[in-house]
Amino acid sequence: MAARRSIGIVVNGVTGRMGYRQHLVRSLLAIREQGGVPLAGGGHIWPEPILVGRDPDKLAAIAAQHGLTEWTTDLDAALARPDVEIYFDAQVTAQREKAIRQAISAGKHVYTEKPLAESSVASLELAELAEAAGVRNGVVQDKLFLPGLRKLKRLIDGGFFGRILSVRGEFGYWVFEGDWQVAQRPSWNYRLADGGGIVMDMFPHWNYVLEELFGNVRAVQTTTATHITKRVDERGEEYVADADDAAYAIFELEGGIVAQLNSSWTVRVNRDELVEFQVDGTEGSAVAGLRGCRIQHRATTPKPVWNPDLPLTGKSFRDQWTEVPDNEEFDNGFKVQWEAFLRHVVAGETFHWDFRSGARGVRLAEAGLQSAREGRRIEL
Ligand SMILES: NC(=O)c1ccc[n+]([C@@H]2O[C@H](COP(=O)([O-])OP(=O)(O)OC[C@H]3O[C@@H](n4cnc5c(N)ncnc54)[C@H](O)[C@@H]3O)[C@@H](O)[C@H]2O)c1
Repeated sequence: MAARRSIGIVVNGVTGRMGYRQHLVRSLLAIREQGGVPLAGGGHIWPEPILVGRDPDKLAAIAAQHGLTEWTTDLDAALARPDVEIYFDAQVTAQREKAIRQAISAGKHVYTEKPLAESSVASLELAELAEAAGVRNGVVQDKLFLPGLRKLKRLIDGGFFGRILSVRGEFGYWVFEGDWQVAQRPSWNYRLADGGGIVMDMFPHWNYVLEELFGNVRAVQTTTATHITKRVDERGEEYVADADDAAYAIFELEGGIVAQLNSSWTVRVNRDELVEFQVDGTEGSAVAGLRGCRIQHRATTPKPVWNPDLPLTGKSFRDQWTEVPDNEEFDNGFKVQWEAFLRHVVAGETFHWDFRSGARGVRLAEAGLQSAREGRRIEL
């Protein structure tokens, strides 16, 4: 039988939304269910999660539910274990930097949720520390693996668009205030002191999406707003929501593409998906969501004539687009990236979603916030 290469992974913040659902259940445990991550030369990588958090009852309950035995509230002790090779962080953002520093000085490879840290200075320091210590490092960039964005990438690689002119993206949905319906996101997201705000949350995503699909960001101009200033937290107590809950931004990219992206927790969805990007090029256009992607080629572009006196007849504009076929099976994006990171650590395969790319994401968020504060365009 081919060899099993076990690898101990500290999963810190496993009781949280992302830590539990996407990283433990949908990634690490799903990898075990499929028999591990196959290695090119035979054998497979077998993740052994060590659950870390603050609440022993919650940790014990998660472990018991999934047949796991290893959990602790003592991060130092977990990092001291020789069988632990990887530290993973899905804690609230404000707690991340300190824990990653600890993990690097314990000589562990580090994989983490975004944003890498609360400032670009701290993020770059973490990148330098990790490089100096010779530990492998990575940041979650899950949106790249969404079926809709994979199809978009396929269109770009196939030359469908001709010259790409612009990207317009809408991300968002209504996050309930918590008074008469429970909020569907944790309250720390709406408090600046706890590392909240939609710019810090979403611009790190936009940075890697723009970089990988369209070009590096050269300049940004952002208007932010805190539209809802009072919310109710997990304990039913009202709090002041002082973090930005909407950001209206224009990104200028290398090569001249203009990307305009709205991010909002205060918008009601009148779209097919919670995020959609429209890409317009000289030869054709596409609208990509989380899963779907529709296209319209130059040759099938209707010729609208502006006349408000006449009602529109015939097919609606929306119905004149064509769905891009799947042509492959799309696995959970968090899991796909975990598999790549595990092969990077164990087999030395390349992995470019490292701390430096995570730091560029934080840098973009900072520039966006600075632009909003100073009312001007910021060059990067
Ligand atoms: N990749 C993505 O799409 C995505 C989506 C949402 C959130 N995130 C990121 O994941 C991280 C966690 O977000 P979440 O939505 O899972 O949050 P969450 O509030 O559900 O979970 C936070 C976790 O951190 C732990 N924690 C440690 N110290 C804490 C403290 N002092 N106060 C509060 N909690 C503390 C909590 O116990 C919990 O396990 C954030 O950094 C966020 O930016 C990423």
